[in-house]
Amino acid sequence: MTSLPFLLYLPLLLLLPQLSHPGATPEPKQNLTLNMKPEPSSTYIVHVHHLAKPSHFATLGHWYTSMVATHSPRPVADHSTRILFTYDTVLHGFAVKLTGDEARRMSDAEGVSGVHEDRQLHYMTTRTPGFLGPDPGFGAWRDTDFGDSVIIGFVDSGIWPESPSFSDSELGPARPSWRGKCVGAEDFNASLCNNKLVGARAFYDGLSPTPRDWFGHGTPVASTAAGSEVRDAGFHMFARGTARGVAPKAKIAMYATGVMAWTSSIAAAIDAAVKDGVDILSISIGKEVPLPFYNDTVSIAAFGAERAGVLVVFAGGNHGPKASTVDNAAPWMTTVGAVTVDRMFPAKLNLGDGTVLTGHSVYTMKANGTNMVPLVINPCSEKTLTPDRILGKIVVCIFSLEHKDEAQDGGIDSLQRAGAAGLVQVYISSWSPDDLSSDLLLGAFFPGLSLSYTAGQNLRAYMVSEPYPVASLSFACETVINENRAPMVASFSSRGPNLVAPELLKPDVIAPGANILAAWPVNPLLPEFLNSMYRLSYGTSMATPHVAGVAALIKKKHSNWTPAMIRSALITTAATLDNTGREILDNGLIDTSDNAKVSSATPFAAGAGHVRPQLAMDPGLVYDAGARDYVDFLRALNYTTEQLRLFAPDMATCTRELPGGAAGLNYPSFVVFFDGRTDVRTLTRTVTKVSQEPESESSDVINLDGL
Ligand SMILES: *[C@@H]1O[C@H](CO)[C@@H](O)[C@H](O)[C@H]1NC(C)=O
Ligand SMILES: *[C@@H]1O[C@H](CO)[C@@H](O)[C@H](O)[C@H]1NC(C)=O
Ligand SMILES: *[C@@H]1O[C@H](CO)[C@@H](O)[C@H](O)[C@H]1NC(C)=O
Ligand SMILES: *[C@@H]1O[C@H](CO)[C@@H](O)[C@H](O)[C@H]1NC(C)=O
Ligand SMILES: *[C@@H]1O[C@H](CO)[C@@H](O)[C@H](O)[C@H]1NC(C)=O
Repeated sequence: MTSLPFLLYLPLLLLLPQLSHPGATPEPKQNLTLNMKPEPSSTYIVHVHHLAKPSHFATLGHWYTSMVATHSPRPVADHSTRILFTYDTVLHGFAVKLTGDEARRMSDAEGVSGVHEDRQLHYMTTRTPGFLGPDPGFGAWRDTDFGDSVIIGFVDSGIWPESPSFSDSELGPARPSWRGKCVGAEDFNASLCNNKLVGARAFYDGLSPTPRDWFGHGTPVASTAAGSEVRDAGFHMFARGTARGVAPKAKIAMYATGVMAWTSSIAAAIDAAVKDGVDILSISIGKEVPLPFYNDTVSIAAFGAERAGVLVVFAGGNHGPKASTVDNAAPWMTTVGAVTVDRMFPAKLNLGDGTVLTGHSVYTMKANGTNMVPLVINPCSEKTLTPDRILGKIVVCIFSLEHKDEAQDGGIDSLQRAGAAGLVQVYISSWSPDDLSSDLLLGAFFPGLSLSYTAGQNLRAYMVSEPYPVASLSFACETVINENRAPMVASFSSRGPNLVAPELLKPDVIAPGANILAAWPVNPLLPEFLNSMYRLSYGTSMATPHVAGVAALIKKKHSNWTPAMIRSALITTAATLDNTGREILDNGLIDTSDNAKVSSATPFAAGAGHVRPQLAMDPGLVYDAGARDYVDFLRALNYTTEQLRLFAPDMATCTRELPGGAAGLNYPSFVVFFDGRTDVRTLTRTVTKVSQEPESESSDVINLDGL
């Protein structure tokens, strides 16, 4: 792994699932006494009601081993390697390789409260460089000494410890009660840890587990929440300035789940992080489709983390603008959506008729746009480009959400090989790209730009009216603060309503998730000009660590607050207005039938609004809640006692009825549905005063007709 060149990234990503996941590894050949071919096995997470341990087992470990031996008999030598992880802090049970048959038998075993097949989840970002910069520069830093000594845990792909963002100058050691450690690997000397990076361990089986970030996800995420101050950072000449995390003196502990994020690894990572004593957890990982909480091991583990006093911040997902896509939407999870920032990197497309269209680009060379060449339309997803069609021409590709991934993987290489003069990416689906000042397709080394939907319509009109359309490209390599309204909910940000618990409003809050300059792995094998220690990233993956950073600052100021109190502070102080004092817009609501039209974001897109760190330090009043309240909430969702046991075995049998049902949870927001027959619902909330000043509370009621 040490010498893995980034150029091999894509093929590698395709290969690794087979290589690295324990579930996918074929069983070693056994001389079974039974005349039977072993059925292929996968990894299963066995949830155990640990309080029911029979007394003749000295430890839970003995019980688990005996369970495996009894319910999936195999040659003795095999057992030791079959249990991959044991969970004993935020959840109880183990991950084990079983055949489907064995899994069914195991689920009937005494003391087992659930058996879930391992799933592969996704990091909530794309693998493409995007654009810049957190420069929060708010007074909250003074009040909290920049989050000094708060420990943020990350469950992510790993970390690139050599990045200047993880330098520990001026930082003291972690508190004596900190139990985290650095466990090195062949490509990661544990001595790379320092007073900034205070923990780094790998939590996956398979090929060379390492805390090193070979994917380019955990590194930008961790630097966004807690990166040290680095002057003159930038992506080539773009977005240059001082880079720093939201809590620049907070400490980082990386719980690496590798290139592929499996639930068994994520659960093990959360378990270890809480045991080690992290203050906040930041997890930018999710599923394609939300699952009921009882079927979602990550949600069960997060419940345990919150119960242990650790606030867990999750990405809501990148499946917007479609409704009901928001993931990680339990009340004990802080769910984050993404917004655009007001920075852009303009480039121009000069049409033959004199029209100039402004788009976005991070092409690193300047060009004055004197050289007019023909324009030709070609699908972005088409990878076999022939020179006879595109040689010396500017290729216009029509980008649609449906082909997002193909477009990404195809790309620049084939254009370059076929001799194209440039690329213009146009968005033409019912999806606005204005949030993607960065471009999915365009690299820094191929002349190209992306056009918004509106500019794309103008280009199309010109190409239709002109038999031989021509154009040139101009690149000034500038970073400008644009006049667009900001923040705007990014079109890709996943939306409510919450499928799993409709009465619970999710996402909770929104934060910057487009054009975020953040630390990036550096590949020693690539020439220097191809490496950039900072790159531009986007996705709810990048919004999440912003909120984790703010949570760390709140934790520093109010060390005795419960996770629910911190979440409440984030929610009740969030902004619903943008930089022009008008309602925050939803960039995903675009009407293609006539002119591009953008509408105000509903709470299903924006939650309570855009996080405001300074105000969140002093919310005045908070809505508190704890494990018992969440169990009552789950009961209101009609979860069975067996299902409740997965979360809190000690509370499963004595639940209280929540007045008002699930919407009655003491949460800062709620959604109620009116069926036309009743028009009054009474819900009660309890607020806790947390400031010295007299406080009054007001609330917003938003009516969403027809939703
Ligand atoms: C396993 O079975 C094969 C074929 O029957 C035999 O050659 C081999 O010696 C056996 N190995 C062991 C460890 O019993
Ligand atoms: C790790 O780094 C330390 C200190 O730089 C060095 O002494 C040690 O030999 C290194 N270990 C390995 C395995 O490279
Ligand atoms: C929950 O998981 C069980 C067991 O894997 C499965 O049978 C069931 O269909 C799942 N339920 C939902 C709603 O996903
Ligand atoms: C534009 O650049 C080309 C070469 O890149 C150069 O030959 C030309 O003189 C420039 N034109 C102007 C107006 O600067
Ligand atoms: C739970 O069950 C009750 C009684 O059957 C029903 O009225 C209610 O709608 C159910 N709630 C949910 C969230 O399914």
